[in-house]
Formats: sequence, C-alpha cells, structure tokens
Amino acid sequence: MNKTLILGVLFSIAWMGCQFSDVKKVNIEKTTFGVTKDKKSVEKYRLSNINGMAVEIITYGGIITSIQVPNREGKETEVTLGFNSLNDYEEGSPYFGALVGRYANRIAGGAFRLDGIDYTLAQNNGANHLHGGIQGFDKVIWDAEAKKSKDQVELKLFRLSPDGEEGYPGDLQVEVTYTLTQDNEIVVDYFATTSQKTIINLTQHTYFNLSGNPTSSILDHKLKLNADAYLPVDKTLIPLGEIHSVKDTPFDFRAFKLIGKDIDDKEEQIKRGLGYDHCWVVNNPNTGVREVASAQHPDSGIVLDIASDQPGVQFYSGNFLDGTLPARSDDQFYNYRSGFCLETQHFPDSPNQPEFPSVVLLPGQNYKTQTVFRFSTQN
Ligand code: GLA
Repeated sequence: MNKTLILGVLFSIAWMGCQFSDVKKVNIEKTTFGVTKDKKSVEKYRLSNINGMAVEIITYGGIITSIQVPNREGKETEVTLGFNSLNDYEEGSPYFGALVGRYANRIAGGAFRLDGIDYTLAQNNGANHLHGGIQGFDKVIWDAEAKKSKDQVELKLFRLSPDGEEGYPGDLQVEVTYTLTQDNEIVVDYFATTSQKTIINLTQHTYFNLSGNPTSSILDHKLKLNADAYLPVDKTLIPLGEIHSVKDTPFDFRAFKLIGKDIDDKEEQIKRGLGYDHCWVVNNPNTGVREVASAQHPDSGIVLDIASDQPGVQFYSGNFLDGTLPARSDDQFYNYRSGFCLETQHFPDSPNQPEFPSVVLLPGQNYKTQTVFRFSTQN
C-alpha cells in the first residue's frame, strides 16, 4: 500500500471518529411545538448532553416542558410536571415550568409606590398581584437563539417588555439563558436593563417530582433547605414583615427531612399555606451563588441540588393541584401535591416592605442573577 493511500485511510478514520464523538456530545434540536390561539407559532428546543440528560424548552413563556435525567439504574426518567399540548399551557397552567416575571410571587393589593408615584397592577390572586399579572412573562412568546460549544449547549430567550406592560414602569429588556452542561446542570442566567426606574424579580417555576411517576405524591421526597429562617405570612400569603427562626417549627429543613413529615401540622402558618407555600430566607446572602436546596427520592435515587445568588426560595408543595390537570400519559392527572417548586427569588411583597432587600432596578444598572439546578444520583 502506498503512503498516500495509508494517510487517506487514517484521515477518513479520524474524520469518522470526530463525527461519531460529535453525536455523543451536547446537542440542540428545534421543532414546532404548536400554534397559539392567536395563531403564533411556538418552537420547542431540546437540549441534550453526553450523560443522558435532556431539557425541553418552548418559546411560549420560556417554559421548561420536560427534564429527563438518568435514575440510579441509568434509566431515563422524567422529573417535571408538564403538558403535551400548547393548548393546555394556554388554558390555565399553574405556571408549570414557566419563566415568571416581571415580579415573581405576590405584591399586596396589586399596588406599590416608587418615587412618589403609585403603580397599580392586576389583582389576579384574590386582592393581591401574583407572578407578573394577567399576561406575565409565562404567557408571552420569547425570541430564541441557540448556541452550542464543546461542553455545553445554551438557549437564550429574550424580549422587550414595553413600558406599562401589566402596569410596570419602564421598557425592560430581558434575557434569560438556559445552559445545559455535561455535569447534568441547568444553569439559568437572568439579565435585564430598564429605561426607567422599576422593580424586578424573576424566577423559574418548574414543578419537580423525582420519583419517576409525576402523578404520585411528593411527600416521600427528602428535602434540605439552607435556611435558618422563613417569612411568616398573613392569610393571603403576604409576608408579615418578621423573619422567623425555623427552629422547633414545621419549617425546619436544615437537615434532610421528608416533605410529608410535618406538612399537615396544626401549626397556624402551615395551615395558612395549605401546606408549604412560603419563602425561606437563604443563609449567607450576598456571597454569590451558594447552596439553596437539595431534594432526593429514595427509590429512583435521583438528587436535585439547587444553588443561587438570590436571597430567598419559595418552597411550594403543590397544594393547589387537585387531580384535574392532564398529565403527559393517557388517563393520568396531576394529583394533589404531586409536584414541588423551589423558586429562587427575592422576598414576596418587597416593593412594599422597605426592610426587605431591594428589588429596584435603575436605568444604567444591570439586573444579573443566576440559579443552577444540578442532577445526580445516590445509592
Ligand atoms: C406559587 C405560589 C402559590 C401558587 C403557585 C401556582 O408558587 O406561591 O401560592 O399560586 O405559584 O399555583
């Protein structure tokens, strides 16, 4: 065999090797998810990595419709609550997987004052404002840009929220980037700038169920929260203003505890939340991205660790799920407490509670925050 032929064969083998390893690396695929009621096309992006993890995100509401991770046996397992059809997301989804803004959680009476001006927001949760209003960030279509590098794949969602949208002041340019790494992490980077003094509090509202059966109760999951205190609330879930120690209360998750252990306690605060629906004050504020929460399921072995630079985390135990919303498989419905949310964020009602960390964004300032969801397994 002559030299040229040998070199040619070697080159072909190397080229095929590159193609093959590329298949095994991170990937991103785009498909059409559906068409909204007002006839706008919604795309779905599927991000996957070499370690058997995949995340699906749609341009409507920046919603994470699915996260698949390997369980202890290596079997691909769905760990979120979601719907098959866009119509179900449009028709009263309880924020499944959604990107929530401009202000995640509640603002008392749907009103706040900034520089002497009174702003009125929708009262879409009793008398309070919840999760950005009637058509919050979870119900609009985002522009999307996908990017792939050797070790990670990312989807950047962006839009301009115009001055006055849902009653909030200032043109707000928002960018949210979901990155899937080879370490089975979803990194969520939030970025925004404003043309006028405004308020902002963005979060991710994925409902998790790590058991492998998204319609089963989450009470058998173990949870740990890096928080020595929580915010007691009034009957409408607005913080009272005090910061209360979790010690000797059902809110103590400083060591791993079954979610179901104290959830039906007779304690007044638990009853107000109808279970857990409160904001915990995460330890070590202002130290950058640090440990927030860890959840695990004993049978699947799946572990979810959450880290963030945000001051609080709203732990919601799916108390409003009632078995009426359709799950992804035929004849299955999302039962009472079949999903839990860990929403990293600023404290609820901060615009009206000056002693809470500020949620004000000024022109020329960058709103920049990060939350990381990391999946692994344990024996
Ligand atoms: C948040 C709230 C809950 C509930 C859910 C959506 O987590 O704190 O009270 O409104 O969203 O159902």
